[in-house]
Formats: sequence, structure tokens, C-alpha cells
Amino acid sequence: MEVSLLINEIKKHFEADILLFAEGKIKHDDLKNKFLGRKGLLADVFAKMPTFTNKAEAGKLLNLFKNELTEKIDSLSQNSVVAKNTKKLDLTLQGRKPNLGSLHLLNETQREIEEIFISMGFEIANGPQVETDFYNFEALNFPDDHPAREMHDTFFVEGDVLLRTHTSNIQIHVMQNQKPPVRIIAPGKCYRNDTPDATHSPVFAQIEALYVDENVTFTELKGTLDAFVKALFGKETKTRFRPSFFPFTEPSAEVDVTCVVCKGKGCRVCKNSGWIEILGSGMVDPNVFKSVGYNSEKYTGFAFGLGIERVTMLRYGIPDLRLFLENDVRFLKQF
Ligand code: PHE
Repeated sequence: MEVSLLINEIKKHFEADILLFAEGKIKHDDLKNKFLGRKGLLADVFAKMPTFTNKAEAGKLLNLFKNELTEKIDSLSQNSVVAKNTKKLDLTLQGRKPNLGSLHLLNETQREIEEIFISMGFEIANGPQVETDFYNFEALNFPDDHPAREMHDTFFVEGDVLLRTHTSNIQIHVMQNQKPPVRIIAPGKCYRNDTPDATHSPVFAQIEALYVDENVTFTELKGTLDAFVKALFGKETKTRFRPSFFPFTEPSAEVDVTCVVCKGKGCRVCKNSGWIEILGSGMVDPNVFKSVGYNSEKYTGFAFGLGIERVTMLRYGIPDLRLFLENDVRFLKQF
């Protein structure tokens, strides 16, 4: 028997035992005894010395191996603290999920709506939330002291500075800065002095749309809104236009969609009508064009504004608008 074969045997044993040691199944002393002890595996090989053909070579190899093994086993004892800790590490314990943030449901809806209109060729515009009376009312054809102003419970800041009550102010900024054609949507926060309840909040968000060009008709308004509503609520959704009034559009219409809950059959959410109102719209009033210097003989346009909270509540069946603002993670995490 060659000495190198015996050494390899012991090496294999040692590698297997080191794993057992790491798992705490063998004590350090026992390990040392098993390999280096007086009756250990290495001693067995030394005892066979007389049988080896080249005794000098065998002695050299064995002594080298003994040193190597002694060093390894001693260093294991220095690391035995680590070894003990390894024993305590329970790899079967479940990991902790990191808390990942995500978009607020309102922002998610807003972005989805933006995507739908971007795919139709609209661009995104922005405007100030702190606004003057001119942009929020006057340029939008609200005459001074007109009762239409009272439909908006305005927060005034100082003089004729106020918090915008709708995103329609952005129409005016855009048209002042740009010649037709205009095709924009403008999302943003709005403010009205309403008492908070399940469907009202003093701070809420709208998305405004404005399309101005030659020969824009009510048909385009209907087609655009129909495509939008189908993209947001589903292909089976229908729209219904009801005559309404806004100072800045003529004619004006409120738009209903078939109830997203009962699909038009009639339920509690739609108060058994089968329809739910989602936005205000109309053809841009020539007086608005006049206030921004557009030629109202040449250009026509449509506009609409929809409430992001309302649309989100309908889509997800959320019963109370205040849930969006209370920052209860248990609510926010559901979506
Ligand atoms: N600004 C209107 C509102 O807040 C909505 C609207 C926008 C209506 C554009 C018509 C055209 O009620």
C-alpha cells in the first residue's frame, strides 16, 4: 500500500468531518483525537511505516501531512465561535419581505389616463395652483358677480389671488403661449371650500383636456370621450351626454357612463339609473378664444374636465374619498 493513497483516504474523512464540525455534530477535541490522537488515523499510518517500500519518502510525506492537519485543526479551534454561531443560524426561518413603496392609487389612475390621451396624440400641460381671478374665472367667461362664480366655493389668498377651483385655468395659459392647433391634457390639484364627506374634499385633482383646431366639432368630442371611457372602464362601457352649463363652453354637456358596478342594470351605486356622471365638457365658448386672442371665426375646439378621485372610486369600488387622503397603509396596500 502506497502512503499517498492512505493520506488521500484521511483527507476525504477530514473534509467530511469538517462539515459535521461546522454543524456542531462533532466536538473540536474529538475531531483532534480522531486524526492526531495517539490512536488516531494518522498514528495508524505511522504504525504501517515498516511496510512502505520507500520509507524515507513516506516519512517525509506523512510528516508534511501531519503538520498541515495540525494547523487546520488548530485554526478551527480559533474559529470555533464562528462555528457555534453557524449552529444557531436557522436557515429554515422565513425571510422578511422588504417594504417596497408604490404609486398612490390616484397617481396611478392619473398616469393611466395620461397614457390613454398620449396615445391619441395629446400632450401634457401644467399650470399654477395659486392663480389670479383672471385665469380661474374672468378669461373663462365668468362675468363679475355672475352666479356661476358661486358654484365654486373659492379659497381666496389675497386680493384677486386664489387657489384654483378647477384645472380650466391651464386652458388659458396654454392658449396664451401657443397658436392652434392645441391638443393638451392637464392634470393637477384643485381647491374648493367644501366640507369633507364621502364624495367631497377641499383638495382634489382634475384632468383637463383642450383640443383646438379648424373644424373641430361636437362629433370629435363625443368620439374622443367614447374612446377614452372604453379604454379606462372597458369596451362594453357606453356614454350618454346630458345638456349642462359652463360659462367657458357652449354648448355644454355632462357625460355619464353606464354604471361600472351593475353594467347599466341599476344598483345602489348608480341609484338605480344605470348611469354615472363622470365629467363636464363642451365646445369652447368664443368668448374664451377672444380673451386669449384666438380667431373664433377660424377655430373651434372642445374641452372637458374630470375628477380623478371620482373616476378612481368608480374603477375600484371605493366607497369614501377620504380613504385616499388618510394614508392608512392597510388601505393603500390593497391596490
Ligand atoms: N372646469 C369644470 C369643473 O370643474 C369642468 C369642465 C372642464 C367643464 C372643461 C367643461 C370643460 O366643473
